[in-house]
Amino acid sequence: MMQKPPSLFDRDREWRALDAFVTDQRPLATLGVVSGRRRQGKTYLLNALTEAVGGCYFGATEGSAGESLRLLGEALGDWSGAGAPLRLDNWSAAVERLFSLGGDRPRTVVLDEFPYLARVEPSLPSLLQRELDAPAQARHGSRVRLLLCGSAMSVMGRLLAGTAPLRGRAGLELVLRPLHYRDAARFWGVSDPGLAVLLHSVVGGTPAYRREFVRDDAPRDRADFDDWVIRTVLEPATPLFREPRYLLAEEPDIREPALYHSVLAAVATGNATYGGIANFVGRRTPEIAHPLAVLEDSGLLAREPEAFRAGRHQYRITEPLVTFYHAIMRLQWTRLELGLGGQVWRESAQRFAAQVVGPHFEHLCRVFATTVGPELFGDTPAEVTSGVVGDPGRREQIQVDVVVFGQPEPGAARRVLALGEAKWGATIEVRHLDRLRRARELLASRGYDTRDTRLACFGGAGFDQDLVAAAGADPGVLLVPLDRLYAD
Ligand SMILES: Nc1ncnc2c1ncn2[C@@H]1O[C@H](COP(=O)(O)OP(=O)(O)OP(=O)(O)O)[C@@H](O)[C@H]1O
Ligand SMILES: [Mg+2]
Repeated sequence: MMQKPPSLFDRDREWRALDAFVTDQRPLATLGVVSGRRRQGKTYLLNALTEAVGGCYFGATEGSAGESLRLLGEALGDWSGAGAPLRLDNWSAAVERLFSLGGDRPRTVVLDEFPYLARVEPSLPSLLQRELDAPAQARHGSRVRLLLCGSAMSVMGRLLAGTAPLRGRAGLELVLRPLHYRDAARFWGVSDPGLAVLLHSVVGGTPAYRREFVRDDAPRDRADFDDWVIRTVLEPATPLFREPRYLLAEEPDIREPALYHSVLAAVATGNATYGGIANFVGRRTPEIAHPLAVLEDSGLLAREPEAFRAGRHQYRITEPLVTFYHAIMRLQWTRLELGLGGQVWRESAQRFAAQVVGPHFEHLCRVFATTVGPELFGDTPAEVTSGVVGDPGRREQIQVDVVVFGQPEPGAARRVLALGEAKWGATIEVRHLDRLRRARELLASRGYDTRDTRLACFGGAGFDQDLVAAAGADPGVLLVPLDRLYAD
């Protein structure tokens, strides 16, 4: 296998997949597609790849068809050592040229920011298809390994969907995702789990936010966190400050940004159901269907099922920075631009706890529960989500932060492996455990299989003494301390 360069953090699985793709020796041209949200490291990864394999990297820019052709000609000329730019008169010629790159070994060509090219030349996918199809292949005997890359998820998704010309033709479909929260902590060089959660609730697992966007400034320790927030994300001179606005501005399918900002604000402030969002935004529900679909396609929103109400969903913002922006920055934008980040941050403690890190910690606990082995919950989790259990007798709703379901068995009652409470800012007490017990009883009476349901307390701030005693007396109660989330 090709050596992964040491500067490339993590991404081992992706590197293996790309390696297999570009070193495939078969005598035919092949196509791969690499996609992923902005700033996840697609360009960085593909640059490292072309360097390792001696391939050609072309990063398209927004420009006219003529200019793009000229730039591509220059890149190919440079790479092939022709000494002069290749003359490409039109896209048909360009594609033919690409596929005629001869030789007896595979040649890697990366077209990064492919959506720009597809916009100026909408027939590009069909032209590629023609060359990838058998007769053309036979003509050239090319072993080109063509990688198309882009972050406009809508465009990249459409490339391979439905009746699109390239459907069924890609031998590699790689989606570059944010780093897992545990890897993100390592990437930031943070070993204190408490600091890691705080940090992840602001910048998530997006690698770029560790580098160029803050000039490598990481918080030294937990005591430095407040100051770090003030000197980075709340500081108008760092690129991170404007990033959450750019993220939306760069989505090609968004025509009415104000509406999209309001939709995201709704979700960020806890109005995360379909009806809740419509209500917050002040539109009728059919009017928000389109923006929700676009945000989902672009990977900024994810839809998660409610555990105990079939067909009901909650939306979640997938990029923590966007949540942070809507909860803390958006309504204070003018003051922040004036450099009053310190003041704004001191006033925001409550909101940061309630709207940002609290819900984010619950999410991290669900991620943890999704990937934990069978030892914790007695069986391998099949689905992890959150839910609400109505208690008609006491006229209340019990919010359950972490609901772990086991493998579904046809015809059998749904097995609940665990019900969990996650708390970031306050110790968990016996009354929280009692609520989980009550939820378990109610679910049993509603036909769920709760025979082996464990009750899990995820304590960001630890556990009260009585709770520790109660857990000691009942093997069905699990106390999961913060460190456990970060232990491999
Ligand atoms: N695996 C990694 N190891 C180390 N640094 C990384 C890694 N991935 C990304 N980075 C850092 O993040 C920066 C941004 O990544 P890059 O520009 O490749 O993202 P991208 O997905 O191409 O974004 P865009 O969609 O905006 O073009 C890189 O310049 C690099 O500093
Ligand atoms: Mg890029």
